[in-house]
Amino acid sequence: MFIYPKMYRKLKRGPQVILPKDIGIIIAYTGANKQSVCVDAGTGSGWLAVSLASIAHKVYSYDLREDFLEIAKKNKEALGLENLTLKKGDVTKKITEKNVDIVTLDLPGSEKALKNAHKALKKDGSVVGYLPNAEQVKKFVSALNKLKFYDVYTVEVIVRDILVRKEGMRPTNTGLWHTAYLVFARKA
Ligand SMILES: C[S@@+](CC[C@H](N)C(=O)[O-])C[C@H]1O[C@@H](n2cnc3c(N)ncnc32)[C@H](O)[C@@H]1O
Repeated sequence: MFIYPKMYRKLKRGPQVILPKDIGIIIAYTGANKQSVCVDAGTGSGWLAVSLASIAHKVYSYDLREDFLEIAKKNKEALGLENLTLKKGDVTKKITEKNVDIVTLDLPGSEKALKNAHKALKKDGSVVGYLPNAEQVKKFVSALNKLKFYDVYTVEVIVRDILVRKEGMRPTNTGLWHTAYLVFARKA
């Protein structure tokens, strides 16, 4: 079993978190870096928010629920991150930030937040949908197409654990398979 780096071992979990296997591809495919300004929703336990904040210039993360924002606040403090702003709010109603580089969406009905994500993003900025079910992917991609996002790209990250032994080197019988589909797109 993979032992997460120290940073993740410090973090508390409330609602289902985005795991490092998916966080990695989100960072790589959006090109998040020390100049990036990001909007994230829902905050949940803040695993994606703190991962982005640990490499980006600034992260604003929204959630509807005070109790989840409280968990995320503890995780933010555990890592000493000062560039992460936690906000109470419904992203299907409003995203205040403008001209941002990246918007990440992990919430039920996230396609309903795409109009606001589109307004918040700068041209060529990236949006990411983290979507557990295929039906959600269809709705999300259809909404992206209506808003004329380009480079719409959907993946699933499967990590296979490999047993390395003197005899019988092979993948393990079990492992972490499906977590969610990830949809990436850019604002035209
Ligand atoms: C699965 S959790 C997010 C986990 C988070 N990405 C992480 O890595 O820890 C989904 C969150 O979305 C929040 N949420 C649901 N609808 C929302 C909305 N319209 N605006 C903001 N947050 C919302 C929920 O309260 C919940 O905390």
